[in-house]
Amino acid sequence: MTQDQWTTVDRYFTDLLVPADDALAATLADSTAAGLPEIAVAPNQGKLLNLLVTMQGARTVLEIGTLGGYSTIWMARALPADGRMISLEYNPTHADVARANIARAGLDKIVEVRTGAALDTLPQLETEGAGPFDFVFIDADKANNPHYVAWALKLSRPGTVIVVDNVVRGGKVLDADSDDPATTGTREMFELVSREPRLDATAFQTVGTKGYDGFLLARVVA
Ligand code: SAH
Ligand code: DHB
Ligand code: MG
Repeated sequence: MTQDQWTTVDRYFTDLLVPADDALAATLADSTAAGLPEIAVAPNQGKLLNLLVTMQGARTVLEIGTLGGYSTIWMARALPADGRMISLEYNPTHADVARANIARAGLDKIVEVRTGAALDTLPQLETEGAGPFDFVFIDADKANNPHYVAWALKLSRPGTVIVVDNVVRGGKVLDADSDDPATTGTREMFELVSREPRLDATAFQTVGTKGYDGFLLARVVA
């Protein structure tokens, strides 16, 4: 099985189940035109996030790592009109592109993109009493994944769902001797989740247009 085959199967699913959409297509096109890296979730993964937020009945979502707002739009579309989403982004250019994309999608009343390093903006959210969030998507600098899961817990309630992207990275997660901070961060995150009694979790591997990767899915139990 090859990347070509994974891509073709993703296209088959996406053509049938994830209809083309002007706002999302323009989000990707404008993100690329502005020089952002092409690392947003795949369309069928965006739809997965949308379905998870819907199934959770979420009214509030926290995202760490906005990029051009592609995953943001998928999740915000699952919120009710009086819902609220905060997305944290370090890079001011990414944040500006995302804000324009989110406004074009008609979601600027629901979504706030906050610029800054997430480890600076997360404590601000706590001070403001912004939580608890019903759903958290973690997809920023992987080295900080243990800190992001700890913050997600802090800003959660029993029943909050936490999703972490890119937890496999072509199998790199197995490398216990890695000196790649993204790998060590992800492995520390798994160890933290495994010994955290407040989290009930699983993880799964994925193949598709984004190669061989995976997600962690957790639920706050208490
Ligand atoms: N969730 C997006 C993709 C995010 S890519 C999507 O699927 O559409 C990762 C993003 O995290 C990048 O935009 C990067 O600038 C941002 N990022 C990196 N380090 C960060 C930090 N310390 N705090 C907040 N965002 C960060
Ligand atoms: C990268 C980051 C992501 O969030 C992703 O989904 C794929 C790749 C990256 O930094 O290379
Ligand atoms: Mg990602």
